[in-house]
Amino acid sequence: MTDQTTRPLYDVARIRADFPILATQVRGKPLVYLDNAASSQKPRQVLDAERAVYETGYANVHRGVHYLSEKATQAYEAARETTRAWINAASTNEIVFTRGTTESINLVAHCWGRTNLKAGDEILITHLEHHSNIVPWQMIAETTGARLVVVPVDDRGEVDQEAFDRLIGSGRVKVMSVAHVSNALGTILPVRRMIEAAHAAGAIAVIDGAQALPHLAVDVQALDADFYAMSSHKAYGPTGFGVLYGKLPLLKAMPPWQGGGDMIETVTFEKTTYAEPPAKFEAGTPHIVGAIGFAAALDYIAGIGVGAIAAHEHDLTAYAHERLCEINRLKIIGEARDKAGVVSFTIDGIHPHDIGTILDQQGVAVRTGHHCTQPLMVRFGVPATARASFGMYNTRDEVDALVDGLRKVVKFMG
Ligand code: ALA
Repeated sequence: MTDQTTRPLYDVARIRADFPILATQVRGKPLVYLDNAASSQKPRQVLDAERAVYETGYANVHRGVHYLSEKATQAYEAARETTRAWINAASTNEIVFTRGTTESINLVAHCWGRTNLKAGDEILITHLEHHSNIVPWQMIAETTGARLVVVPVDDRGEVDQEAFDRLIGSGRVKVMSVAHVSNALGTILPVRRMIEAAHAAGAIAVIDGAQALPHLAVDVQALDADFYAMSSHKAYGPTGFGVLYGKLPLLKAMPPWQGGGDMIETVTFEKTTYAEPPAKFEAGTPHIVGAIGFAAALDYIAGIGVGAIAAHEHDLTAYAHERLCEINRLKIIGEARDKAGVVSFTIDGIHPHDIGTILDQQGVAVRTGHHCTQPLMVRFGVPATARASFGMYNTRDEVDALVDGLRKVVKFMG
């Protein structure tokens, strides 16, 4: 394939062979899966790891002295160590397992927000945030009297850094919460710089890393992020599992999230005392197999190399930009200088849902809609876009298939 001739060390055919679903035929056509920003597919190594737990090592964790419970606990806690090492957190106590990025951000907004925000305080976000990094903050703003402040984005889809510097310096911002990578546009935000500015302003920094995890190397200590939220399902791991990284002093000072088993130290009817983090934030039986599958996904990514994957996806994104320009009336929404593997576009006069439906008939899977970023769609004056998003297994041939499909869309819809 073209990728292999241009990048001899990146063996995309071998990677594709690890993903059973990629052999699927859709309406008689080979599947071209370009919806990785919504959810990525799973390699055999992750599926095998999950099956192995259920077949040979499954029981509840932290709750038994029997063989299987100890085995499951060991694998579950090993997954925490794999996650810690992946993002270079200082301690496994800083790794809270959740259901995904959405729950991670809700946890911070609720637990940190309810004890640290008051009327007049400001919560700084940007115009390109996913609803999961808008709504939880609106909810806590409503209960505390704090105010949401939004940094604008420019026509390229980059965060206006001059406006950011002005708004972060108001003296009222207590928390900045921003995406590392925009799910709708692919913009990579200069989060290191933004975190530094937030700290200089006396605010904490929360990063929505949902779209960054499988595409960029993430080092929470180098970033100096106070909280970093992630999802497994976008990083080739199981659905329903995610992570919240939080600096230990912040996690220790926060009240718990949900109450229940495993998050307590002692319980009487008069008073309950809580366990130390991360257990304090992990009430109930967790997604044991999800954690172990996620660690298998991280191991799988490590075997290929985040740098190599990023370079491959960068090549695909640049190639897609170049080729999509051949389509009449097509407009790319989001042309940031620093972009991850996402290309959002509209075709004048054709509704994105029609684009998605006609592409689907040709086996090409893209997402169409507002991408859970309604304010951003309003900013660009569109109700929706079609979005192709790349993963480690996509190829230039698949970009060609997308372009061929779009030619049919234009021919068919006029
Ligand atoms: N947040 C996911 C997306 O961007 C669902 O499609």
